[in-house]
Formats: sequence, structure tokens, C-alpha cells
Amino acid sequence: MRRILIAAALLAFAPGCESGSDNPDVATIVALSGDATSGESLYGTHCSSCHMADGTGNPGLNYPSLVEHASKETDEEIVAIVLEGEEAMPAFRSQLSDQEVADVLAYIRATWG
Ligand code: HEC
Repeated sequence: MRRILIAAALLAFAPGCESGSDNPDVATIVALSGDATSGESLYGTHCSSCHMADGTGNPGLNYPSLVEHASKETDEEIVAIVLEGEEAMPAFRSQLSDQEVADVLAYIRATWG
């Protein structure tokens, strides 16, 4: 089952798709089943200082609102930015396991769509 999911995620990564990243970890993580409860606590530890506990971000510091933006991004885009960082957003690859990134993604989806 897991193999089929990974294959499906890799297919979604075919050239021409808007993936935002060629990091192979992205497809692996998107194929995992995340736990939103664990993700909530990880979000509180690693993300809420900038994106706020309620996800509204900090416009004054250009920390984007996940309430407004999460639903417009693909799973791949969210996972890629968490792993690799972008501009003032730090990279979390060395701090979070694949499963932990999947958990944070599950929390974001369960909370802000
Ligand atoms: C030091 C502050 C900071 C922390 C901590 C942080 N982010 Fe970010 N995040 C940012 C900034 C700044 C951006 C905008 C990056 C850019 O300009 O491209 C961003 C962008 C994002 C985006 C894309 C939103 C968009 O509008 O494109 C997502 C999703 C995201 N962060 C999720 C997370 C998650 C999940 C965590 C915790 C694992 C986290 N961030 C931790 C500052 C932070």
C-alpha cells in the first residue's frame, strides 16, 4: 500500500507539473499519513513563533498567514518550504523527521484547509 502511495506521489511529480521542488524527500513525506494531533504540538514548538498559534502570521514582519495561504498551496509546496526554507523562513530538514513534517502538514490541512 505504502509503495502504491509513493508511486502515486512520484507520478504527481512528473516533469511539467508545478512541484516547486525536485527534492525526493517531498514525495516520500506527502505519501505518509500524518497525525494532526502530533502536528499541532510540533507546530506550537517550531512554527507558531512566526505564523502565530492561530495561523494568522505577522504582516508587519512579512510572516504569511497560513489561514489565507495554506489552502492555495499543494502538499508538495508546503512540505518543500518546511524542508528547505525560503527567504526569512528557516529550513527544518535537520530538525524534523519525515513523519514529523507529515504530521505538521496534517495539522495545517485539518485546521486551515
Ligand atoms: C522565523 C520565522 C518562521 C518560522 C519559525 C516558520 N516560518 Fe513559515 N514562513 C516564514 C516566512 C518569512 C515565509 C515567507 C517566505 C517567502 O517569502 O517566500 C514563510 C512561508 C511559509 C509557508 C508558505 C506560505 C505562503 O504564503 O507562501 C508555509 C506553508 C509555512 N511558512 C509553514 C511553516 C511551518 C509549517 C513552520 C514550522 C515547521 C514554519 N513555517 C516556520 C517564516 C517562518
